[in-house]
This record gives sequence, C-alpha cells and structure tokens, in this order.
Amino acid sequence: MSVVPRLAPRSESVPSAGPTPGLRIRPAVAADAAWLADVSRVSFAPHLHDYLTSAQPGAGRFWEVVLAYPASFPGRCCLVAEADDGDRLGFVDLTLVDPGLAHLSYVCVVRPARGRGVARALLRAYLDRHPDVRAVRLDVFADNAPARALYDRLGFTTESTSTWWVADVTPDWSASSAAARLDGLHAARAWLHTYGFGELTVAIGDTVVRLGRPSARVLRCFEPAALRQPAVVGAVLREFPEIDRVLVMAEGDDAPPSAVGELRAVNRSLRMSAPEIRTRLELT
Ligand SMILES: CC(C)(COP(=O)(O)OP(=O)(O)OC[C@H]1O[C@@H](n2cnc3c(N)ncnc32)[C@H](O)[C@@H]1OP(=O)(O)O)[C@@H](O)C(=O)NCCC(=O)NCCS
Repeated sequence: MSVVPRLAPRSESVPSAGPTPGLRIRPAVAADAAWLADVSRVSFAPHLHDYLTSAQPGAGRFWEVVLAYPASFPGRCCLVAEADDGDRLGFVDLTLVDPGLAHLSYVCVVRPARGRGVARALLRAYLDRHPDVRAVRLDVFADNAPARALYDRLGFTTESTSTWWVADVTPDWSASSAAARLDGLHAARAWLHTYGFGELTVAIGDTVVRLGRPSARVLRCFEPAALRQPAVVGAVLREFPEIDRVLVMAEGDDAPPSAVGELRAVNRSLRMSAPEIRTRLELT
C-alpha cells in the first residue's frame, strides 16, 4: 500500500464539517474482507491478540460472510475510506443496537493516513447515512491514547470501566467436569476451524452457561459467576485441551471470586457514549 500523497495534513484538510479533500467513503464489499482483517489485527498489540476475535486467522473469512450476506447482520454498517487513487485508508464498523443508538465496534486508519481527519470523516459519513442515529457507544482499551483522544474530541464520556482478568488453566481441570455437558460440540469445532473463534454452551443441571472462544487458547466467561463453577471450565477443557487461559471482564478494579485459578489483569476497557455526537460533528 502506498503512502497517502493526496491528503493534506490535518490542520489544512479537516474542516469541522464537510468532506475531507481527496477522500472517498463507500460501503465495504466482500473484496475488502482480507484487508479489514489485516488492518484491525495490526491495530492491537500482539499480547492482546489471543483475547480478540478480530485478530484471529479466520477473521477475514468472517468479514466475507458479514459483507456478502448483509441481511443476516441487520443494522450493521461498514464503511471504507479511500484516497482518490483507490488506496484504502481506514474503515468504521457500527451496528444499530437500539432505536437511535449505534455501537461502534471498530474504527481503524492505516498508519500513514493517521492524523488527517480520516476517522472523523468516516464517523461523520456513517451519521450522514443514518439520520435516525442520535447517539453512539463503544468500548475502548484504557491505554489506547490515540483512540481516546479521538473519542474525547467527539464528546464521548465514560459510563463504566471494566478490568480484563485472566487465569491460567491446565488440562487436568477436565477431571472435575462429570456434572457438566458441553452442548453443540460440532458447531463449536466448525466455528473454530473456519474463523478461529466461536462460542460454546455448557449445561450443568438446569443451568445453561454461554461461553466465548475468542481464540484457540482462550475461553471467555461472559459472566464472572461462571468462575465459581469449575465444572463448567472442566467440561470445555475435556474437549479442547489446547485452551490454557480463562478470560473474564468485570466492572471496576476488583477481581471477582474465582475457583479456577488466580486472576491477573491483562487490560482495562472503558464503555463510553456520546449522546450528542451529531452536534459535535455539526450534523442535524
Ligand atoms: C484512533 C484512530 C482511528 C484515529 O484515526 P485518525 O484518522 O488519525 O483520527 P483523525 O485524524 O480523524 O482525528 C480526529 C480527532 O481525534 C484526535 N486524535 C486522533 N488521533 C490522535 C492522536 N494520536 N493524538 C492526539 N489526538 C488525536 C485529534 O485531536 C482529532 O481532532 P481534531 O481534528 O479536532 O484535531 C487511529 O489512530 C487508529 O486507527 N488507531 C488504531 C486502531 C484503533 O485503536 N482504533 C480504535 C479502537 S477499535
């Protein structure tokens, strides 16, 4: 990918409203899938990759499905910014989660194009195309300074903070799994094989516990309470001994009670929202 010659530096090129010169914004298409996966993967530090579905080797295949079958992903919108020579510079991915409220999953700009108003223009273009969206929310890593600077400028404020906790686990955990049953094993294996991530369900008595598999080696407990049920983790490890860590996100700074091992913090994320983002971007 060439450097971005036709975009002027931020101070000259980014008006607070209106299009950025030399920039075209269009809906993403299936042919963008591999590029979207590459750009999001390199945006995150390697030590976080095991915890992020977007960093897995099959993420491009997943993007292909999202972009080729939009009716299966209602309310989702991915826009790509490109220079007038056709070089792709960045993208946004948002989903309408409630009437008037969109969740921003990704905003990524290639390194050479940063600081020139591409992210701002992408968000503006999304809101232009979706006049009913009044507010946007998102999750951002606390240590992601450029993203936080962008969100501050757009009027986002923090609603809550979560810590990402991780415990190491070993295959001998499977010994404690007798009472728990892993449902949908075939689907779980197929997802992992195709995309490199997926979800699992464990039934224990009348309780059904949903779990995530953000990568081959990590099991995510969506609810911290699952950490108090070692049989749940054991049932998964019996089938997937390659899993060596359990991840849970919990609001605040305190580690939740854990019966699966000692927890260590790997990161913190902020849930932010901007109820007045249209005003900030001078849109009606
Ligand atoms: C965060 C990111 C998307 C910003 O993209 P960008 O195109 O450089 O941002 P813009 O040029 O549109 O900047 C918009 C505003 O954000 C602020 N900003 C953006 N990057 C900044 C930085 N590195 N330092 C300080 N302020 C910054 C600017 O103040 C700017 O406001 P202004 O135009 O009023 O001066 C880009 O750095 C990126 O792709 N990072 C990696 C991916 C990522 O972490 N995405 C977020 C989580 S999914």
